Amino acid sequence: MSGASETQISRWPHWSVPAFHWIMAVLMVAAFTIGQIMEDTPRDQRLEIMGYHALVGISVLVLFFPRIWAVARLSRPHETDDPRIIRILARVAHGILYLVMVGLPITGLIAMTTIGRNFPVAGLFELPNFGRIEWLHEAAEDVHEFFVPILVSLVVLHVVAALWHHIMRHDDVLARYVPWLRNRSS
Ligand code: HEM
Ligand code: HEM
Repeated sequence: MSGASETQISRWPHWSVPAFHWIMAVLMVAAFTIGQIMEDTPRDQRLEIMGYHALVGISVLVLFFPRIWAVARLSRPHETDDPRIIRILARVAHGILYLVMVGLPITGLIAMTTIGRNFPVAGLFELPNFGRIEWLHEAAEDVHEFFVPILVSLVVLHVVAALWHHIMRHDDVLARYVPWLRNRSS
């Protein structure tokens, strides 16, 4: 299917599009949950759990690029009779979700590489240590924390919108991403 022209793309996205979506949704929720646990962990035990947080977050960053490629090449926006303003808002919400999806790991990586000590990632590898760069470390941590409530509110809105399409409008929006719902809606 790679190299598919627009006319070859079916009503349903290529399987990789929902696959990326669900794998990354799980990873984002996991990174968020570990991040919350981390905040309540005593300092002396924090480094280990931070390593797992970083590993999950770095996986999000790595998968982001093939996902964007798959969405752009192997899928197209769902056909809808939603008002124009709703379609624009949905695109803006997806755009901001992409921004935090990539912004969280990048700011996390900046924060951890400018903290001034070696940082082991789940016993697998170490992040580069650029020495202590106070202003950059603080700024990256602030932006990282700023993105968190944006992520949470948009994901809540996003899930409500998906359920609204499925339950109230009975359209294909959710079925495009949940193949076993397709019989009922096609
Ligand atoms: C999808 C990716 C990520 C998500 C959803 C995420 C989420 C979070 C959350 C919820 C917190 C707790 C913040 C708070 O309660 O105020 C946090 C803190 C933190 N995260 Fe992430 N994170 C991600 C990726 C990363 C990565 C890749 C790194 C580093 C390599 C990282 C490094 C940190 C650090 C250093 C903190 C502590 C900040 C502080 O103590 O103020 N994060 N993150
Ligand atoms: C139970 C949870 C979720 C449900 C039911 C859900 C449902 C959906 C549906 C139905 C679409 C297609 C929308 C369309 O075609 O216009 C979609 C797309 C999208 N979702 Fe979710 N989603 C969930 C969780 C998440 C999470 C946790 C994130 C990210 C943090 C996320 C980010 C996105 C993005 C960026 C898109 C745009 C298209 C794409 O990249 O595949 N979703 N979601």
